[in-house]
Amino acid sequence: MIVLKSAREIEKMKKAGEILASVHRQLSSLIKPGITTWEIDQFVENYLKKSGATPEQKGYKGYQYATCASINDEICHGFPRKEPLKNGDIVTIDMVVNYQGGLADSAWSYGVGDVSDTAKTLLDVTKKALYIGIEQAQPGNRIGDIGHAIQTYVEGEGFSVVREFIGHGIGAVIHEKPDVPHYGLPGKGPRIKEGMVFTIEPMVNVGTHRIKMDNNGWTSSTEDGQLSAQYEHTLAITKDGPVILTNQDEA
Ligand code: MF3
Ligand code: CO
Repeated sequence: MIVLKSAREIEKMKKAGEILASVHRQLSSLIKPGITTWEIDQFVENYLKKSGATPEQKGYKGYQYATCASINDEICHGFPRKEPLKNGDIVTIDMVVNYQGGLADSAWSYGVGDVSDTAKTLLDVTKKALYIGIEQAQPGNRIGDIGHAIQTYVEGEGFSVVREFIGHGIGAVIHEKPDVPHYGLPGKGPRIKEGMVFTIEPMVNVGTHRIKMDNNGWTSSTEDGQLSAQYEHTLAITKDGPVILTNQDEA
């Protein structure tokens, strides 16, 4: 069942989204060669506490950290760790913020120091794929229109879209209906309606879309060891179109 949200609920999720956006803005200057994803996770947890918010991922299905930190060929659900990031790495930091019961979810990929041309292109294409998906999140369209637009663009750039992890409705809990794949056919899937709140979060790989699972039970990486990136926003659908609740641009 897809739960439609009231204006009041969306307002609370927007507050969570503003805090989350502010975390990512700070991470973009904090992330440099030498910092560890462990330190980043601590920074996020402290900042959320100071803001009166909590890290919703901590304790979710036994997950132990405020953030997911996925480095290079890791696609998602990497554990924060005490090994310094190196010049040329890329890292995706993903988190869900809870502010007074309102949730928001946003992942962002960062280049560490100077990254390769391939990494730069991957980051650009993945971010653009997110915004191309958001453009399709219009009332009256179908969920499949989003994935189709993303897949067409990404594959046209010579990269691939991960299938196993998808966007999702979000509300009282992190994962609700609808499922929002980043691939598929236009005109398929549920009709997009005012009051829906869901994420779009394409994971894009340089090589194969296939994944392998780490034996920690959480972290997935590209099967061929090539790079993967991800950008994610939480959106509320209004009658005038999507509103990005985790928007990082200054108003
Ligand atoms: N933020 C992730 C998502 O986009 C959720 C991760 S669940 C966790 O769906 F437990 F790994 F944190
Ligand atoms: Co998500």
